[in-house]
Amino acid sequence: MQLPLQIKSFDHYQEVYQQSVDNPESFWAEQARTFDWHQPWDKVLEWDFEGPNVKWFPGGKLNITENCLDRHLEERGDQTAILFEPNEPGDPAISLTYRQLLDEVSKTGNALRELGIGKGDRVCFYMPMVPELAISILACARIGAIHSVVFAGFSAQALADRVNDAECKMIICSDYNKRGAKTIPVKEVVDEAMGLGCPSIETVLVHRNTGGDIGWDPSYDKWYHEATEGQSTDCTPEVMDAEDVLFILYTSGSTGKPKGVVHTCGGYMLYTAFSFLNVFQYQPGDVYWCTADIGWITGHSYILYGPLLVGATTMMFEGVPTYPDAGRFWEVCEKHKVNQFYTAPTAIRALMARGDEFVEGYDLSSLKVIGSVGEPINQEAWEWYKEKIGKDTVPIVDTWWQTETGGMMISGLGGHSPQKPTFAGYPLPGIQPCLVDKENIQEVEGNPASGLLCVKFPWPSMLRTIWGDHQRCKNTYFSTVPGMYFTGDGARRDENGMYRIVGRVDDVINVSGHRMGTAEVENAIDEHPEVVETAVVGYPHDIKGQGIYAYVIMGPGDHNGDEVRKEIIDIVRKEIGPIAKPDKIQFVSALPKTRSGKIMRRILRKVAAGEADQLGDTSTLLNPEAVDDIIRGKR
Ligand code: WTA
Repeated sequence: MQLPLQIKSFDHYQEVYQQSVDNPESFWAEQARTFDWHQPWDKVLEWDFEGPNVKWFPGGKLNITENCLDRHLEERGDQTAILFEPNEPGDPAISLTYRQLLDEVSKTGNALRELGIGKGDRVCFYMPMVPELAISILACARIGAIHSVVFAGFSAQALADRVNDAECKMIICSDYNKRGAKTIPVKEVVDEAMGLGCPSIETVLVHRNTGGDIGWDPSYDKWYHEATEGQSTDCTPEVMDAEDVLFILYTSGSTGKPKGVVHTCGGYMLYTAFSFLNVFQYQPGDVYWCTADIGWITGHSYILYGPLLVGATTMMFEGVPTYPDAGRFWEVCEKHKVNQFYTAPTAIRALMARGDEFVEGYDLSSLKVIGSVGEPINQEAWEWYKEKIGKDTVPIVDTWWQTETGGMMISGLGGHSPQKPTFAGYPLPGIQPCLVDKENIQEVEGNPASGLLCVKFPWPSMLRTIWGDHQRCKNTYFSTVPGMYFTGDGARRDENGMYRIVGRVDDVINVSGHRMGTAEVENAIDEHPEVVETAVVGYPHDIKGQGIYAYVIMGPGDHNGDEVRKEIIDIVRKEIGPIAKPDKIQFVSALPKTRSGKIMRRILRKVAAGEADQLGDTSTLLNPEAVDDIIRGKR
């Protein structure tokens, strides 16, 4: 079996990078040819960033699951594809070989077809990290259905919004979810979402996970084990065009409702495999572990697709880093002799705070590459990771990318790249990032430099559109800097051209590696009947990276602060989910506004960060007195 190119040294990287920029089409065509296609593409690339219109390998026909599964059978049919580590450390790990995984995917694919799901239909997932989640996602891809996975921590309202936006025909869920010492009623949230109104749903397919009691509506509820029982292990793959939609994944933006980011089959397949091989320097036989949840893009690209496409052994972990204690990650690394480990800075900081005794004593000598993703990693966390986990010898890859980019964009390549704490490093082959001055919207050349992080040229796994709202895709990503993809991040380049991501420059905050739109949280808080106006900002938080700080104006009358705070938190939990609940709520009588009535978020951010001494001139505000009031009441 052929694999995409794997870079072998920094010199090799530089050479390949140059080729990929000089001749992107021939570079990517050569990589794409290493996969199995039913029919070759008509052309490699068609693009303009005005539309935007981006097509990679149009006319090419494939099914991504044949590349994830069938084509491995000959060489590694009996090798573990998915290694499942359960929540309870005492429970046995489950291993699914490539052959077994294909059989399970096929059975589920046939079951879905029998339930009326076909090419182009949307299937929503609301499910914990269990093997059936991976199996049924791949089953969708097998039959050409579009998966839309919703992180199982979102509320019923958030789930219903996403189901309705994509007009899903089916929800696949579990009865309950085990996370650490908690058992979470998953089906109950789905029932609640159905109660809110999900008219497009025909079936709720329920996986029996814990076996606990659940509500049941015979008009649409069906058991997963009954639907898959007795199904054939042959499931003819749907032949897809490279540009047919593979999945939708909702993510937060700076305006109100979450956006359904659309990824397509061919380019996504190529780029997730290519980037996985190169960033993690995966070698046959290695055990790779990404601790993300499949509900986020990291899980899609680097628990499922990327690793399976190259025939890796990929681990899925059901639990949490601190159960039964803060040594769980390292215990699991030792137990399964993990070679590549990929996690988020928030987890590193949380474990670092628990103390080194939870790391000491575990044998981490199998580790070859350790990775970070989701938010900027601060120097202290980087150094702890390097020293305590990497024993000062294992390279760290700090991987910058986004839901929209589909795959890792700027990162070291295993041990082959120079490393510098807090710097993601150099772009992957085929990726052409640049910095744009935010005042005059011109590219800033030379080093060092700083500006808005943009990308000048299409790459295979970039988003194609926002589900049902192409205009929004254009406005959000392709209008700020004409002719370029704008990431929403600010960055700088050092004198050697290494990139450091500074953080979001829009109204998106990053809480424990989870993206959150401040507007979304504000809209939720505004649902409280006595709330008049709200402004939400991020502030530096030791563990979470950013915390959520809400400034709230209440209507007339007597409001007991703590009681109202609790009500507000409950509303946010209900509207979005516990991940969005404010860490701090400050009641204010006014919000600082410009003369044109715009909230001065810069001031709110400074106050929340405890930097009220750096506000600068506030005299031109409509209501400068509001600022003093806010500073006095800071929480
Ligand atoms: C941030 C996660 C600094 C960034 C894959 C980006 C990072 C947003 C890094 C995307 C990193 C992600 N260093 N910042 N290594 N990785 N980010 O869509 O602000 O959940 O725009 O994708 O996370 O978050 P998303």
